[in-house]
Amino acid sequence: MSNNLLKGKRGIIFGALNENSIAWKVAERAHEEGATFVLTNAPIAMRMGEINALAEKTGCKVIPADATKVEDLENLVVQAQEILGGKIDFVLHSIGMSVNVRKGKHYTENDYNYYNTAMDVSAISLHKTLATLMKHDALNEWGSVVALTYIAAQRIFPDYNDMADAKSLLESISRSFGYHYGIKKKVRVNTISQSPTPTTAGQGIKGFTEFINFSEQMSPLGNAPAIACADYCVSMFSDLTRYVTMQNLFHDGGFSNTGVTQQVIDKFGNE
Ligand SMILES: NC(=O)c1ccc[n+]([C@@H]2O[C@H](COP(=O)([O-])OP(=O)(O)OC[C@H]3O[C@@H](n4cnc5c(N)ncnc54)[C@H](O)[C@@H]3O)[C@@H](O)[C@H]2O)c1
Repeated sequence: MSNNLLKGKRGIIFGALNENSIAWKVAERAHEEGATFVLTNAPIAMRMGEINALAEKTGCKVIPADATKVEDLENLVVQAQEILGGKIDFVLHSIGMSVNVRKGKHYTENDYNYYNTAMDVSAISLHKTLATLMKHDALNEWGSVVALTYIAAQRIFPDYNDMADAKSLLESISRSFGYHYGIKKKVRVNTISQSPTPTTAGQGIKGFTEFINFSEQMSPLGNAPAIACADYCVSMFSDLTRYVTMQNLFHDGGFSNTGVTQQVIDKFGNE
């Protein structure tokens, strides 16, 4: 279904690894809505090659960039404008990675080199991206930048480990940069706090299956699927949400405002 919500808009989409990736669905939806964009991912992710199928399907180019390297981001921002023929209207930051999570290091015994890497990849990369875009004056007025986050930034979910700290930082960067970019260029910056979703990054979290089931039963509407997240991203990139900025927007079927549901209560029965 297309409403041409993004007709004439140019974008950069980070983080499409495979067809389960939230960024993959965003690219498909943005394409349907008439946008042109470039796809980008870390050079190491490119080796898996799946992104090329998405590029072919959506008629776009792929520019490798490690989002922790400013020189890669500079090259990305310059090339994207050349390829797309003008300044950029929307950017999706859909990047997350924790070595402590991958290696099963307990939060209280985190390795600090890994910890720094998690902050750099999952949060500071948003600052670097926004700073590079600003330096090159690469965004149009009313441009929209969205980064994906998770409610562990506000509440403890023990197995989310140091990613919780990274998401808190990500949300803070979005607010702070949103202020400065708003004043300078009317650019808006928001985070979307998504339900647990079965992707490569999501499934890396310990106990993910139990967790996604718990979340499903704690959400009046059920967990929000990746495709619905893509719809929300499209609406945030569109002109229909022009005055939304510096927000953390929950896209979680009501989970964030639910104390308990009857379904969960019933599990405790009369013992
Ligand atoms: N899956 C979930 O349950 C869930 C829930 C809420 C928020 N999120 C967030 O959504 C975003 C997208 O994750 P996903 O679930 O689609 O998983 P995914 O594994 O498909 O995407 C993560 C992406 O980050 C990229 N990446 C890692 N290091 C990078 C680097 N140095 N430079 C550039 N890119 C790099 C990976 O290559 C991958 O494409 C992440 O920020 C994640 O934390 C996911």
